[in-house]
Amino acid sequence: VAGAPEPTIAWDEASGTIRFIDQTLLPERYEVVSADSVERLIHAIMRLEVRGAPALGVAGGMGVALAAQRSRAATRETFLREVEEAGAELAAARPTAVNLSWGVNRVLARVRDAPDPSSARHAAIREAILMAGEDLAACMRMGDHGAGLIPDGATVLTHCNAGALACTGWGTALGVIRSAVLAGKRVQVIACETRPLFQGARLTAWELSRDGIPVTVIPDGAAASLMRRGRIDLVIVGADRITRDAVFNKVGTYMHAVCAMHHGIPFYVAAPRSTFDPLSLEGGVIVEERAREEVSRCGDCILVPDGARVENPAFDSTPLSLVSAIVTEDGILRPPYRFGGERPG
Ligand code: MRU
Repeated sequence: VAGAPEPTIAWDEASGTIRFIDQTLLPERYEVVSADSVERLIHAIMRLEVRGAPALGVAGGMGVALAAQRSRAATRETFLREVEEAGAELAAARPTAVNLSWGVNRVLARVRDAPDPSSARHAAIREAILMAGEDLAACMRMGDHGAGLIPDGATVLTHCNAGALACTGWGTALGVIRSAVLAGKRVQVIACETRPLFQGARLTAWELSRDGIPVTVIPDGAAASLMRRGRIDLVIVGADRITRDAVFNKVGTYMHAVCAMHHGIPFYVAAPRSTFDPLSLEGGVIVEERAREEVSRCGDCILVPDGARVENPAFDSTPLSLVSAIVTEDGILRPPYRFGGERPG
């Protein structure tokens, strides 16, 4: 039970670049690539080469460290301006996953605290590396807390990829499943393919089959009838942002939550504290709208006629009233949910 052969994203000390698994190539090809500029990293974030809320948090932090390292500014003021601009561009690359701006702001704070550019560079890199280590540790702790929610012999439905590939390693929802398996439980996973970019089919199935955890991929639309036929014991997903009233996650998640409630099946969310945004409400969150072509085309094949409009929201929100429990690195939260007034972390 391991996840990916190496960290999903890491700072490469020798070259001063960010190394990450290019997730657009999986499962056909496993390739580790690197970003040596903020522009390249932003491109990778927008194309989903690196993706998943916790991994985006680390990418944001490392991106700020990269900007600090690459800056040739002569004065502290120019240096700060350059790094802050890079931070703002990084945070805007994907607006819904709060971890991205959280990671950017965390490393920016170290940069601002430093007395000069040279110490700022060191502090930024240290903080970004620390974040990556903390992310993995948080996932392992989430796994320990959440494993008890999964009964021996369970069939678990998940959506998108909330695994090692979405974090530095181990995973949130898949981390809980991994920890249950490690504890000796027999678990099988139903992975929704997750249209239109197929993170479930391509990434969740890749990760779990590498680990020898039985996984079956289904079309997203098959989930409800499997629940009705008693084939699903519980649902567990990750999250991109948890506001005071809702969980934002990959589009399609809400549908599973409604169906789970209807069929009396527990619906769990696993997310680190960096995903919580308790100062916001559902209505104030920007839902990323992605390119028409992701839906209207498959390779060279046209799926939607030119005359038809396409909507392609990357995420949806699930009211907390549909969530049975939220697994965090600090323990399991249950209804009624009361998050503090500040963003944790
Ligand atoms: O568009 P993606 O692939 O970045 O969306 C990812 C998800 O929706 C995940 O479920 C979420 O980030 C949780 S990852 C632990």
